[in-house]
Amino acid sequence: MTFKLSCLVFPIFMFITIVQADVFDITKYGAKPDAEISKALSDAWAAACSAQQPSQLLIPKGRFCLNVIEFKGPCKAPIEVKIDGTVIGPEDPIVIPKGAQWITFSYVTGLKVTGSGTVDGVGGAMSWPTDDPITTVEKGSPLQYNLCFNFVKDSSVTGITSKDSKNFHVNLMTCTNVTFDDFHVSAPKESPNTVGIHIGWSKNINVKNSVIETGDDCVSTGDGCEDVHIEGVKCGPGRGISVGGLGRNKGEKPVAGVFVKNCTFSGTENGVWIKTWPHSHSGDASDIHFEDLTMDKVDNPIIIEQDYCPHIECKKNEPSQVKVHNVFIKNVKGTSNSPEVVKLRCSSANSGCENVQISDINLTYDGPSGPAIQECQNVKPVYAGELVPPGCAAA
Ligand SMILES: *[C@@H]1O[C@H](CO)[C@@H](O)[C@H](O)[C@H]1NC(C)=O
Ligand SMILES: *[C@@H]1O[C@H](CO)[C@@H](O)[C@H](O)[C@H]1NC(C)=O
Ligand SMILES: *[C@@H]1O[C@H](CO)[C@@H](O)[C@H](O)[C@H]1NC(C)=O
Repeated sequence: MTFKLSCLVFPIFMFITIVQADVFDITKYGAKPDAEISKALSDAWAAACSAQQPSQLLIPKGRFCLNVIEFKGPCKAPIEVKIDGTVIGPEDPIVIPKGAQWITFSYVTGLKVTGSGTVDGVGGAMSWPTDDPITTVEKGSPLQYNLCFNFVKDSSVTGITSKDSKNFHVNLMTCTNVTFDDFHVSAPKESPNTVGIHIGWSKNINVKNSVIETGDDCVSTGDGCEDVHIEGVKCGPGRGISVGGLGRNKGEKPVAGVFVKNCTFSGTENGVWIKTWPHSHSGDASDIHFEDLTMDKVDNPIIIEQDYCPHIECKKNEPSQVKVHNVFIKNVKGTSNSPEVVKLRCSSANSGCENVQISDINLTYDGPSGPAIQECQNVKPVYAGELVPPGCAAA
């Protein structure tokens, strides 16, 4: 009995010694509430990142102002950045040095961003012009993202909120195995370009159990992405969960493996959305799964839009050269604001969309322009299960 007990106690002590991280509290590095903390934050990061054992960089409860930070790795050991406070960015984008984003994590492996705090990008009158946000970029003051992840691997982001970004809330570039869980995005419906999470050139990215309320796409998956899983996300307001826009640039890499499952869309412009530019460069999107989705008053619940062309001139009648194939849409229910509850506007190039399978749809529309229909261009979907409204008649 004594022997057994000591066996039990010993590993527990071992465990505690191993996982206890050294805490690097920014207030020990000179950070003061309501003051600008970039120096303190970068000093605390340098110390934490060079620690030989697991470390925690702590932004405690309180309000802190931050002009800019790059959390650059590689670090010597796994590192946690715990944000319990509210971190407030500069209102004027010009304050952030040219070429920098507001908060950047780069070249870190084994990063955990945790806490119950908020990063507030202070988007607003200075960064959300009602006319054309591009103009601001051309004036030499690009609008910055709240959180950038570049070359980040085996990492997670949980608990925190991204608020009122000037531009995208989160941008992932060249990342592998990153999970967002219990992540929150909050910006007004009217805020332009405030994509919740944009994923580009990345592999094995997971977004789950998160609430995204913003002015642009809740999650968007750009070219070069593989194995993206979006599950248990509540989207709205916003413009939906998207793949694309693809084909705008030369040499874009394929998108392969996007799984959107168990998500809810409330009052969004789109639900699930594949968008490619007309008159485009070549590209490829395949192995896309939209499953177990609930739509609540969504303008376009299911939409493939191969002539996507927002706010610039383009040759709408020239077909998109992006190939869309192997798309599986299953168990989507709820209400639509438009009668075309399923819009498949595929390109006439590349023999249209191939292998689109649709099963168990129940989408209702009760407005004046009814009845609800499914619309198909350059695609012959394979149907199964119960379909309300019925699928497109065989052409
Ligand atoms: C992915 O990252 C998590 C940490 O977030 C890690 O525990 C897991 O082992 C990684 N998976 C692979 C396949 O490397
Ligand atoms: C679906 O997502 C919600 C969060 O929106 C989560 O609470 C629920 O457990 C998920 N259901 C399944 C079956 O995964
Ligand atoms: C479709 O949804 C409506 C409204 O929720 C419901 O009344 C109807 O029974 C459903 N139809 C099928 C075939 O599931």
